[in-house]
Amino acid sequence: MAGGPREQWTSRHGFVLAAIGSAVGLGNMWRFSYLAAENGGAAFVILYLATTLVIGLPVLLAELVLGRGSQKSPIQALTHYGGSRWKPLGLVFVTAGFLILSYYAVIAGWAVRYGLAAIVSGFDPNAAERFGEVASGWDAFGYHLAFMALTVFVVVRGVTGGIERTSVVLMPILFVLVLGLAVYAATLNGASAGYAYYLRPDFSKLLSLNVLKDAAGQAFFSLSLGMGAMLTFASYLGRNVNLPRAAALIAGADIAIAFIAGLVVFPMIFALELSADVGASTVGALFITLPKAFAEMGSVGRGVGILFFAALIVGALTSAISLLEVVVSSAIDGLGWSRRKAGILLGIAIAVLGAPSAWSTDILGAVDQVANNILLLGGGFALSIFVGWVMAGPIEEASEGASSAAWYGSWRNLLRYAVPAFLFFILVYDAIPSTFRTIADLF
Ligand code: PHE
Repeated sequence: MAGGPREQWTSRHGFVLAAIGSAVGLGNMWRFSYLAAENGGAAFVILYLATTLVIGLPVLLAELVLGRGSQKSPIQALTHYGGSRWKPLGLVFVTAGFLILSYYAVIAGWAVRYGLAAIVSGFDPNAAERFGEVASGWDAFGYHLAFMALTVFVVVRGVTGGIERTSVVLMPILFVLVLGLAVYAATLNGASAGYAYYLRPDFSKLLSLNVLKDAAGQAFFSLSLGMGAMLTFASYLGRNVNLPRAAALIAGADIAIAFIAGLVVFPMIFALELSADVGASTVGALFITLPKAFAEMGSVGRGVGILFFAALIVGALTSAISLLEVVVSSAIDGLGWSRRKAGILLGIAIAVLGAPSAWSTDILGAVDQVANNILLLGGGFALSIFVGWVMAGPIEEASEGASSAAWYGSWRNLLRYAVPAFLFFILVYDAIPSTFRTIADLF
């Protein structure tokens, strides 16, 4: 292994904040709110909560157990416990990290662009046109490159000096910003229509498999699951850390921020009667409606908008560094590269791969769908099988640093049966219609 002994987080809360930093990001504010808007508000929220707790949380603990137990990045962690035939799965994880970061940084670039423009000249009331300019061509690509450079800068500085330090400083700021924005949103006239839409379930959608599929995909994306990000972060942990407690804290904070972000977004959109605009566009929903709302709110709106985009950028950065860390740590452990070389070269490769997403939001949306509904859910399926059936002693590893408890057996049974069965069903359900659609499109 290059660079001497493996780095370790300096403290337990450093790890927890970094993991929460990975979880909380564009997924909580951008993706969660547009999916909720598309899928009947509260019905989606309920299914998202349920899948996070029943499916996401067990897989999160499985990733932490694998990472801490092996003290290795994903590919080596899998071969350590399962032999070399599991190497391809590790490669899929690294590929997912590559692919997700390539478009994630494009969206983060839009946020940087909006934030800077708001400071310089405020928000443009012609929000849809403006979004068209921001989200395509060289402009989008340029901001994407700048954001990638920032991500590389943090990761190259190392686990404690870069990732931990950034998360410990930025995450508390993010919490305060999001809470403050929710309090402000509550004071708006007409906020209650937004709450009603967000919190009153449409029971017909609650029974829809499509909504369930999106909710499960969102649960995985939001918890950074299914591609080894949490596994990698846990590989820098000592044996005295209570993993079940850490998993509960991470999931709790992730749910809380997503939920509170909804309390920011929906009242603002409904107070300004912009809800029709949300339905019209998917990927761009947040980036069109909110700037429009901020523009209509005048100078207060400008300040609020700047804070909103600051929160979005902070969330995006602490998530992007975890995506890059999966790829970088794999190159360090597997190829013997230095952290610096891995960060810079792979960062450039990912930046280039993001070009199509920078030019077209349709491509971006399609990559996002594939990455989530196939790679992350498929990765979660394989991970639960791996820890449930293949890895020796997952229960002993989970209870190390924690007290042993009766529910560990149920956790493993979830990983053995319920979680893979559920994910398999969702994957097949998703694959069949889209395969038909693709074949139909050929004619
Ligand atoms: N969880 C992050 C978010 O919600 C995105 C992410 C996915 C990060 C997968 C790492 C791995 O924004």
